[in-house]
Amino acid sequence: MTDKATLTWGAGKSAEFPILKGTIGPDVIDIRTLYANTGMFTYDPGYMSTGSTKSAITYIDGDKGILLYRGYPIEQLAVQCDFLEVSYLIKHGELPTKTQYEDWVGRVKRHTMVHDQLTRFFNGFRRDAHPMAVLVGVVGALSAFYHDSLDINNPEHRIIAAIRLIAKLPTIVAMAYKYNMGQPFMYPRNELSYSANFMHMMFATPCETYVPNPVLVRALDRILILHADHEQNASTSTVRLSGSSGANPFACIAAGIACLWGPAHGGANEAALAMLEQIGDASKIPEFIAKVKDKNSGAKLMGFGHRVYKNYDPRAKLMRETCHEVLAELGLQNDRLFKLALALEKIALEDDYFVSRKLYPNVDFYSGIVQRALGIPTNLFTGIFALARTVGWIAQWNEMIADPEQKIGRPRQLYTGPTTREVVPMDKR
Ligand code: ACO
Repeated sequence: MTDKATLTWGAGKSAEFPILKGTIGPDVIDIRTLYANTGMFTYDPGYMSTGSTKSAITYIDGDKGILLYRGYPIEQLAVQCDFLEVSYLIKHGELPTKTQYEDWVGRVKRHTMVHDQLTRFFNGFRRDAHPMAVLVGVVGALSAFYHDSLDINNPEHRIIAAIRLIAKLPTIVAMAYKYNMGQPFMYPRNELSYSANFMHMMFATPCETYVPNPVLVRALDRILILHADHEQNASTSTVRLSGSSGANPFACIAAGIACLWGPAHGGANEAALAMLEQIGDASKIPEFIAKVKDKNSGAKLMGFGHRVYKNYDPRAKLMRETCHEVLAELGLQNDRLFKLALALEKIALEDDYFVSRKLYPNVDFYSGIVQRALGIPTNLFTGIFALARTVGWIAQWNEMIADPEQKIGRPRQLYTGPTTREVVPMDKR
């Protein structure tokens, strides 16, 4: 028997709503009939208590600091699998067998080049354009090039679009970087792994051989795994909402990239690094913490706090570990900003302001330091995040399109504007 929740209001009015159960996690009250039965909507700005969809992809327990992709803990995936293996898992629901993995990697690699005409788009941007501005434009423009994968009702089109996006994002991100630098674009090298190829397209030049460092490649791969999906966050919800109208996948991912750009979301790793630079020295930490605690200052401890995690973000632990490995490999154990970050984290974790609000480091607290050590410029950090999250976005988009319960997303509102009034002619206003 389905449990029910009863809503009572006014003089003895009541309505019942089914309570739905997932495989794990909190139950949800199914309020789809609320308006029809009561004439009222719910009010939940920021979706603090609203589940927008059923999903079988990612599970987060924010209180316990648990993150699962398709049931597998992030800690196991991050150390035992590579990014394309995790991508297959997120997209298909199961870890690949060896044959499935090889076939998947082969299919992704066949699509790493972009249409040659697409390269001309870059010339339309200023050299100093922010890479996220370039990504929003160029990824959206993919819809103009791949007409043979735009039929969202055709599962084969959907898989080709997914593979194209996963395969081409590294190429486009690297092109955005090369364009900024004034260096020639580097073609992908398909004999390299996904992450090694990305480093090649970023850091190689036609003048000399570039050999990717395996420790740094592994660190980049881990960054990608940790950012691959995160259930119904702002950018994923944006992709789903855009896709709910039937828009094509390339346009939907471009919308996700636009949302991710914001400093409260994907822009936080860039902001976290800028904050460390601004603090500059461990002696300035108390002054900075006092500023963050002062509501009038508007300052936040960037890389701290999360809408869902009210415990240590499990990705932050893995990222801190990677930070140690990368800095050791590069002989930068005494990196000024890393030491500062460790000191800042220690102080914040003991401070009642952060403890009482359950504010812990999120993935972005350390990822900026790792990316900087890899040679990735600060303004490209969010681009790397977009590259990784494309896997989650496209899997979530596909899950939505294949869902028979899917409807166009159309929230309602609590109207607070003027009631009906008459237009007064201009000379009488
Ligand atoms: N520094 C200082 N105070 C903070 C911080 C922070 N980083 N984060 C939250 N708080 C405070 C708020 O001021 C609020 O205090 P109050 O109760 O006294 O008013 C309380 O903690 C609750 O915070 P909310 O803003 O209500 O939490 P919300 O869930 O809306 O915000 C968010 C989450 C946006 C991530 C916020 O913690 C933040 O801005 N953090 C810094 C930016 C950041 O690191 N973003 C990355 C998120 S992870 C990602 O996108 C991959």
